Amino acid sequence: MDSLDARLKLFPVSTKLEYHSAYAQLAIAGCRLAELADLFGTPLYLYDRASLDQVVSRYRNALRETYPGSTSLTYAGKAFLCLAMAQWVKQTSLCLDCSGSGELEMARIAGIERQRLLVHGVNKSPAELERALRLAGTIVVDNLTELERIAAMSQDLNGLIPDLWLRLRPGVRVDTHPYIQTGMAESKFGMSLPEGRRAVEMCLEHGLPLTGLHFHLGSNFHEAGPVEAALAIVLKWAARIRSASGWQPLHLSPGGGLGIAYHESELPHPVITDFVRPVAQITARECRSRGLELPRLHLEPGRSLVAQAGVALYRVGAVKASGERRWLLLDGGLADNPRPALYRARYTALPVLDPQRPNRGPAWLAGPSCENGDVLIEGLALPDIQPGELLAVPMSGAYQLGMSSNYNGACRPAVVWLEGGKPRLIQRRERPEDLLDRDIGLF
Ligand code: LLP
Repeated sequence: MDSLDARLKLFPVSTKLEYHSAYAQLAIAGCRLAELADLFGTPLYLYDRASLDQVVSRYRNALRETYPGSTSLTYAGKAFLCLAMAQWVKQTSLCLDCSGSGELEMARIAGIERQRLLVHGVNKSPAELERALRLAGTIVVDNLTELERIAAMSQDLNGLIPDLWLRLRPGVRVDTHPYIQTGMAESKFGMSLPEGRRAVEMCLEHGLPLTGLHFHLGSNFHEAGPVEAALAIVLKWAARIRSASGWQPLHLSPGGGLGIAYHESELPHPVITDFVRPVAQITARECRSRGLELPRLHLEPGRSLVAQAGVALYRVGAVKASGERRWLLLDGGLADNPRPALYRARYTALPVLDPQRPNRGPAWLAGPSCENGDVLIEGLALPDIQPGELLAVPMSGAYQLGMSSNYNGACRPAVVWLEGGKPRLIQRRERPEDLLDRDIGLF
C-alpha cells in the first residue's frame, strides 16, 4: 500500500515489520501483534514503554535547553490512567495531574510522593477537596467559591495545606474542536483576571500558601502562538498584582494541549521543541522585562505524552457491502473510543498481517454498538480484508479508554504493556460480572 510508510509513522516508536514466512507482520517492542491478540483476545489496547519514555525525554530536553530557570513536567492523567501508568509516572519522576478522587487514589496506591501530585477540577466536590487537602502537593483552584471552601476547611489542618495555584482564564482561543477549547473568555474553566486578583487578596488575607498561576487553553492544537499570547497577558497581570500586593508566582503552568497527528494526512507530527521553545522564551522575556523573578515553568501534557504509545487492536467479525460501501465490522468502536463520534476525530489503521497488500479501495470501519454513529474510521484505503483478520489502530493511547463506556453492555478491553520483548497484562478485560458489581437489584 502507498500509504504504508506514512501510517507506520503514527505507530509506537518500537514498531517493526517482521518478515516471517512469505509476508510481513506488525510487531511492537519485539512482540507480534497477532500473537498478542491470540494470547489476550480483542479488542486489546497496547502501550509501548519506549514511546512513552522518548516523549518524556524530548519534553525534558526541550525545557532544559530553552528555559533559563527551573522546570517541571507533569503528566495529565486524564489522558489515560491506571495503576501501571501511575507506577510509570512515579518511576519516571514525573508529576501527576489528577482530576477527581479516583485518579488521586491511583496515584496514592502507586506511591507517588505528595509533592508530585497536583489536583485539578472545575467543580471539586467537598469530599474531593478534603482528599486533595490531605493527599496533594498542589491544588489548582478553579474559582472563588472553591477558594472560600479551602480557606474554611484548611483551618482544621494545622498548617498542612497543599500549595495553591490559581487557574486563570486568559481569554484566548486555540484552534481545535470547540468541545476542547478552554481558555476563552466565556469558558466554564478558571477565573477571569479580576477574579484572580480577588483570589490573590483572599489568599493573602487568610494566610493561604498561594504559590502559582495556571491556565490551560485547550487540547489538540498544533501552534504555540495562542499560548505565547496568553503568557504575555498573564505575566502582565502578574506584574500589576506584584506592584499592588507584593505577591508574585513561584510556579507558572501554561497547562498542556499540544496536539499530534492522528491520520497520515496530518503528518508530520508537531515537534515538541518547536512548541516548548517559544513558550519558554516568552516566559523568560516577559518576566525579565516586567521585573518578575523567573518562576519554575511547568508543562502538563497528556495527549502528546501517551497517544502514540497506544495501539488498539480489533478483529474484523464480518465484511459487508451496503450499496457502494465496504463495511468492516469490528469487535470494538464507540464503547472503547468515543472520539470519532464526539469530535469527528479521524483515525487510520493497518492490517496486522501482510500490511503491504495492494489497496482495494475505501473501507468503513464500524463497531458493534446499536448506533449509526459507531463508525470508527470512514473511507480508509485498505487492502482486501477477510472476516477474522486483525486491524491495528495507531494513536490510541490518549482519551480513549479513559472515556470508554459499557454502552450496550460492552466490556472494557484488556490493556497490555510492551517493554523489552515482553507483553505484560496491566489491566484485565472487564467481565459481564463486573458490570453487575454495583447493582443491588429489586428482589
Ligand atoms: N491540564 C489540564 C488542566 C487539562 O484539563 C488537560 C486536558 C491537560 C492538562 C492535558 O491536555 P492535553 O495535553 O492532553 O491536550 N477528551 C478530549 C481531550 C480533553 C482534554 C481535557 N483536558 C479528547 O479526546 O480530545
